[in-house]
Amino acid sequence: MKKFTVEELISQEKVEARIKELAAQISKDYEGKAVQLVCILKGSIFFTTELAKYITVPVVIDFMQCSSYGADTKSSGVVKLAKDLDEPITGKHVIIIEDIIDSGRTLSHLVKLLGQRQPASLELCTLLDKPERRVVEVPVKYTGFEIPDEFVVGYGLDYDQQMRNLPYIGVVKFES
Ligand code: IMP
Ligand code: MG
Repeated sequence: MKKFTVEELISQEKVEARIKELAAQISKDYEGKAVQLVCILKGSIFFTTELAKYITVPVVIDFMQCSSYGADTKSSGVVKLAKDLDEPITGKHVIIIEDIIDSGRTLSHLVKLLGQRQPASLELCTLLDKPERRVVEVPVKYTGFEIPDEFVVGYGLDYDQQMRNLPYIGVVKFES
């Protein structure tokens, strides 16, 4: 692991205020319905729990895990399913909760996979988006923040499994 420091990019206050706004928007959009949140492990756990706390319609939370970057900071382009959902989603209003969209490959793969299970609706919600790095287009309904093309950690996001527990979003600065 290369030596690095972390510089704050988005404060805890700003992250949590924005998550409350997203929760309010979702609560309004899904009024009279129930939502099934699909948390993409592990990066989305902090975001999912914080978001779920402020959603006012009935919520079910389920988990899915895809292959990760490992010790690298660039996507391998290969998406593998490590853990599937516990519950069927047929006829449910599903929202996939992601920590960050980079190339878009992970979400594009998941949308295809979950779309085949005939949910009543399927939307995407991401805390962070790096639009500059998009390789595959994905229709994202809810975005927390658009960020520049830098490697970030905190609020669930990791660098080689570390720094997930930072309460804010920080940029990793590698020492040369
Ligand atoms: P994509 O398939 O290229 O869109 O990659 C999305 C996944 O890559 C995310 O779910 C993260 O796990 C990981 N990822 C992408 N950018 C970062 C970053 O800046 N920090 C930490 N993880 C990242
Ligand atoms: Mg992830």
